[in-house]
Amino acid sequence: MDPERVQGDVLRVPSAVLFLIAVGKDKSMTDEQLIDLAREAALKAYAPYSRFHVGCAIESVDGEIVTGANMENACYRLGMCAEQSALTAAQHAFGLARVARIAVVGGADATVCTPCGGCRQAILEAAQLGGRDVEILCGSGDGSALERHTIGELIPFGFGPANLDDAKPA
Ligand code: THU
Repeated sequence: MDPERVQGDVLRVPSAVLFLIAVGKDKSMTDEQLIDLAREAALKAYAPYSRFHVGCAIESVDGEIVTGANMENACYRLGMCAEQSALTAAQHAFGLARVARIAVVGGADATVCTPCGGCRQAILEAAQLGGRDVEILCGSGDGSALERHTIGELIPFGFGPANLDDAKPA
């Protein structure tokens, strides 16, 4: 696999995981396993300018998984965050409205990486489309710290598609 490839992939899900989905468990893996997938995704980041590697793993309501990583550009402002890369993959794989849980890992030390303001807004879009408060797991690059948040907590009083509902023709 090309190490510089950053767009998300639908991962092969082990049969034990498929069994859990089949029996109706809403989570296909533990928080730690989803964080590990985000950490693996960070290895595929293209971040030669900041050297801050971020990985993101997104789980759908049905337990499907997609991943993404940040991708920078010599024209700095064109860089893309890991979460937005993974959200694009999520839209292609199962649709934004089915996003349930997101794991983000970034950096190399013990500092927990939380989604930037822009990514919070992008996650809010998925949350409001699906009518659920998306869980966000945030890990440190060295694997020592894990925080659990929700998008409602990280972007309170946000503006999203729900605000535009009253602008749609009846
Ligand atoms: N970055 C992300 O991928 N996600 C975030 O939520 C915060 C920042 C990336 C953007 C840039 O490539 C690098 O981390 C440093 O800001």
